[in-house]
Amino acid sequence: MRRSTLRQLEVFEAIVRFGSFTRAAEELFLTQPTVSLQIKKLTDAVGLPLFEQIGKKIYLTDAGRELHQMNLDIFERFDRFEMVTSNMKGMKAGKLRLAVVTTAKYFAPRLLGMFCSEYPGVEVSLKVTNREQTLERLISNRDDLYILGQPPKQIDVIAETFLKNPLVVLASVNHPLANEKKITLQRIAKESFLSRESGSGTRIATERFFAKQGLKPNIRMELGSNEAIKQAVIGGLGISILSRHTLALDIPNGQLVVLDVQGFPINRHWYYAYPAGKQLSIVAQVFLEYLQQAPQLLVDISGHYANIGHCPLLPENTTKRICTNKGNSE
Ligand code: PGA
Repeated sequence: MRRSTLRQLEVFEAIVRFGSFTRAAEELFLTQPTVSLQIKKLTDAVGLPLFEQIGKKIYLTDAGRELHQMNLDIFERFDRFEMVTSNMKGMKAGKLRLAVVTTAKYFAPRLLGMFCSEYPGVEVSLKVTNREQTLERLISNRDDLYILGQPPKQIDVIAETFLKNPLVVLASVNHPLANEKKITLQRIAKESFLSRESGSGTRIATERFFAKQGLKPNIRMELGSNEAIKQAVIGGLGISILSRHTLALDIPNGQLVVLDVQGFPINRHWYYAYPAGKQLSIVAQVFLEYLQQAPQLLVDISGHYANIGHCPLLPENTTKRICTNKGNSE
C-alpha cells in the first residue's frame, strides 16, 4: 500500500467525488484507460476491491470507504501544509470551504467577494442549503466554517455572532394591514401565512415566536425558498415572516411592505460556527477576523434597510454572544 502513489489516491478521490470514471478522467485531463490502470494498481496494492458496480452506478466497498476516509485526512494535511508554507511566504493562500444557510446568501457572497479581492490567493467554495442540511454538514465536519441563524444544540461548537438578522412581517403593498399601526400577533395569526419548508431556521424561529404567545401561524402554503415566498406575498397569497436581509433588492420596487406588528422585528443574529476541537486553517482564521468587519462592510445595505423599517440592521455594533458548549441559544 505504501508504494501507491499520490496520483493514484487523487484519481481514486476524483472517482468518488464524481461517481464516474469518465468524469474523473475529464477532471484530471487523463484518458479513461489511464484512470482504470491507476485504480487497478491501487486495488492490487490494497488487495481488495475498492468499487462495485450495480447497474450503471458505482459504489464504494467497505475497503473503498476506509481508503476514502484516509484520503480525506491525507489531503487535508496537504492543504494545511500548503497554507502554512504560503503563510510563511507572507501570502494568504489556500482553500476556504464555507457552508451557509439559505438566507445568508443575501450577504455571504458579497463578503466573500470582498475577502477574495483582498486575498486573491484564496480559493473559495460556498455551499448554500437550509439549516437542517447545513447542520448535517457541520456534524460531519465537511467544511471549514458555517454561517447560521442559531448555533446547534446537538453538537459541541464554537460559535459567535457577527451580524444582526431581524425577522420582519411582510405583506403585499395592497394588503388591508399595510397601513395599520401596532398590529397584534393575534391578528397576524388569523391571516393566511406563507411558511418556509420544515428544516428552515426562519421557520423554526417563527414558530417558536408564535408558540411563546400560545399562538400558531395559519399556514396556507409552504414554499422552499425566500424568493418564492416574496413572489407569493406580492401575488396576494398571504403574509410571511422573513429575514430583513431578503429585502435587499425589493423594497425600491414598492411591492412589499414591512408590517408594523407588536414585538417585531424578532431580533436574531447571524453566527459563524465550527465544531469545538476543530483546528482551523489559517485562511479560515483570517476569514473569521474579516467577519468582524461585516457590519461596516455591508454598510450600504444597512443604509438602505434603515430607511424602510423600525430596526436598523447595521451598522451599530453587534452584540457578541459566544458559545463554546452545547445548548446555547439566542
Ligand atoms: P434558513 O435559516 O435559511 O434555513 O431559514 C435562516 C436562519 O437560521 O436564520
